[in-house]
Amino acid sequence: MADKKMLNKIALITGGTSGIGFACACRFAAEGAKLVLADLFADKGAEAVAKLEAEYGADVLFVPTDVTLEADMQALGEAIRNTYGRVDAVIAAAGIASGNNPAGTTVEPNPDPEANMVINKPLASWQKVLDVNLTGVMLTNKVMARLMIDAGVQGTIVNIASVAARRPLPGAADYCVSKAGVEMLTKVLSVELMPYGIRVNAIGPGFIETPMTANLRSDNEGNMMVMAMTPMARYGRAEEIASTALFLSTAESSYFGGQILFPAGGMFTG
Ligand SMILES: NC(=O)c1ccc[n+]([C@@H]2O[C@H](COP(=O)([O-])OP(=O)(O)OC[C@H]3O[C@@H](n4cnc5c(N)ncnc54)[C@H](O)[C@@H]3O)[C@@H](O)[C@H]2O)c1
Repeated sequence: MADKKMLNKIALITGGTSGIGFACACRFAAEGAKLVLADLFADKGAEAVAKLEAEYGADVLFVPTDVTLEADMQALGEAIRNTYGRVDAVIAAAGIASGNNPAGTTVEPNPDPEANMVINKPLASWQKVLDVNLTGVMLTNKVMARLMIDAGVQGTIVNIASVAARRPLPGAADYCVSKAGVEMLTKVLSVELMPYGIRVNAIGPGFIETPMTANLRSDNEGNMMVMAMTPMARYGRAEEIASTALFLSTAESSYFGGQILFPAGGMFTG
């Protein structure tokens, strides 16, 4: 028990029912954290809660939340305030890929790469990606940092960016720009929140085996592109991102602030 790294810490994970967010939830639960998962769908939330309870005996609260809506984020903040009175660690992992499905969540990429180039991209598609990946992260930081300050918690916030913050990917201008925005947002917030003892950092994963990359991984050309870009010549596992998130959420990283770490199979990001 004693060496659990997050014993009795309250951790909020947005996008916590799938992929990287869920892997963070599992790792944090194993380390003794009490979890709040914020994600869109109640059925996926119930499934994630059941798994975490069964496998780790974790204390888990699921709050259906759309991170793009400030009212949802404020309600999430209130739910955490009422249940636990504080939050110690935040992982902002909710995100979507580029695509032409503005109503969707884990957007299916349009199979025609030309359709996603800026010259053809529907405005609604661009706006949806910026809303979820950048504004959603900003709102998460806004509400959760306020909660930390009110509760006198010197907590940690980890924003999930991407190697796309630094690498231009044709057909994914919205995604790249949203993630570059998350990197800079992290730096500004780090400076703003340092006086309160709140550390804000980011992670820029390479290509990771999650539902978000399912289409890419089932496509020969997509796989060839990923292998050519990734010196380790393999996809990363969500657990490898979770261990980076754990590092940035504990005192092991106590001298880090406003940094972005790239678990990306050796990919050069500059
Ligand atoms: N998989 C990769 O290769 C990769 C690489 C770099 C960065 N990332 C980033 O990691 C994060 C997690 O992605 P993943 O690969 O686990 O994908 P995923 O699709 O498995 O999970 C994303 C989660 O975010 C949730 N979500 C989407 N829109 C939301 C909204 N408006 N409000 C609340 N929740 C919402 C989805 O429901 C889903 O549970 C994303 O920010 C993604 O951009 C992923």
